[in-house]
Amino acid sequence: MDKIIENTRKIIADDKTVFAAGKWTPKREAYFEVYKALMTAYPIESVLNIGVGPALSALKWNNIIKAIFPSITHFENIDIELKAVEKAKAHGDPLIKNTVLGDVKNLLDIYGENAFDLIYWNQGPEHIFREEREKTFAQLDLVAKKVIYMHCPWGRGYDGDTWHYSKNIQKSEFEEFGFECVYHGKKDSRNAGIMSYKVL
Ligand SMILES: C[S@@+](CC[C@H](N)C(=O)[O-])C[C@H]1O[C@@H](n2cnc3c(N)ncnc32)[C@H](O)[C@@H]1O
Repeated sequence: MDKIIENTRKIIADDKTVFAAGKWTPKREAYFEVYKALMTAYPIESVLNIGVGPALSALKWNNIIKAIFPSITHFENIDIELKAVEKAKAHGDPLIKNTVLGDVKNLLDIYGENAFDLIYWNQGPEHIFREEREKTFAQLDLVAKKVIYMHCPWGRGYDGDTWHYSKNIQKSEFEEFGFECVYHGKKDSRNAGIMSYKVL
């Protein structure tokens, strides 16, 4: 396991696709901490990437996930935007070709219980309303077999985004649903984020 953890640090340090080129930042440290915590659920063999996004960004994230969790053999993705889904399918890469059109709020109907070892929802929970969390998070708990991961802005940094229905997210908002949280960056800046995870 020490070797896997050391490799994870290296992948995060060297990556220039989802992290800015250069030094070890608080954001990198936060991802490292959280990925280490997720590893307690090894082996992780299947993943659902929710809100996977347009093909290129989708591929960047799934490449990182694949590098960090090499035990994953099965990738599925879901997005509410038809264009994102069509682009991911058309791209054809095995990491993104299994992409379906759907809403995270209907996850249980779409996949059923215990469908994936890991649920990965990056830049996600800000896209649902606070009053939708209870129902949505309950479904994440059922559809995930081993671990759930989410990332979203911390504070007001991205409040201008029309599609962010939960504005100004604060500390403790996800802990109350049983998530462990790691905060990074200066709250209210565009670098500030909340990483939440649950080992089931
Ligand atoms: C900010 S992008 C994040 C893309 C990618 N996960 C990343 O981290 O780069 C948010 C994505 O979530 C999708 N999305 C928004 N609401 C959703 C919902 N209710 N169910 C599924 N996907 C949703 C959007 O279409 C968009 O592709």
